[in-house]
Amino acid sequence: MRTPIIAGNWKMNKNPKETQEFLDGIKGKLPESGVETIIGAPAIDLTTLVAGAEGTPLKTAAENSYFEDAGAFTGETSPKALDEMGIDYVIIGHSERRQYFGETDEDINKKALAILKNNMLPIICCGETLEQREAGKAEDWVTGQIENAVKGISAADLAKSVIAYEPIWAIGTGKTATADQAQEMVHVIREKIASLYDADTADKVRILYGGSLKPANVKELMAKEDIDGGLVGGASMDPESYIALANFNK
Ligand code: 13P
Repeated sequence: MRTPIIAGNWKMNKNPKETQEFLDGIKGKLPESGVETIIGAPAIDLTTLVAGAEGTPLKTAAENSYFEDAGAFTGETSPKALDEMGIDYVIIGHSERRQYFGETDEDINKKALAILKNNMLPIICCGETLEQREAGKAEDWVTGQIENAVKGISAADLAKSVIAYEPIWAIGTGKTATADQAQEMVHVIREKIASLYDADTADKVRILYGGSLKPANVKELMAKEDIDGGLVGGASMDPESYIALANFNK
């Protein structure tokens, strides 16, 4: 049984004060079990987030990290330092980082290995453009992204890791993939993991859907066999909305 995940990705939104306000807003309202709740926040908010999550079911994620632990890399964030401050997950390979910051599959693979080495878990993002989907190339593209991202990751580590399928055309557009479209691709990703690893690893890895996910459509997507949760942008920033998402199964 895979425990579902409702993960927020705030992107470049909220300052530490707003982070604290969010934490105050969700206090005592997240499920204690049955669903894993995670918030991914900008680096400047992580100290506040970790302090506020302590003693609650909420887990914490950084939205990026570098693949070296330390050194002359001005402006980057150390995965070792993220672990030492108590971060649980790191989101990597988000389409915005690929598109605006030139992140390659190779960078993402190095980051995944560095995150695992530092006792955290990666949330590995993948997804196709509308153009690729319309050209019938989405499955090859997405499975290629995954194959490149997981190189050198052991089966045991991959089984604990998280993959997020986020079709680029559904991010921030209000245009959600239909539950069937999402299920179809998430299933293809799971099959790819089975072929790269084995059936047991494919059965354990949690695969999320992301793209205009909100309280109004979460139930339908979560009802699909292979979809283990959501990576949520816009609808994760308001406490009431995040609480509703986290309690999707109530
Ligand atoms: P939205 O939920 O705002 O569409 O963003 C999805 C996303 O990119 C999460 O990583």
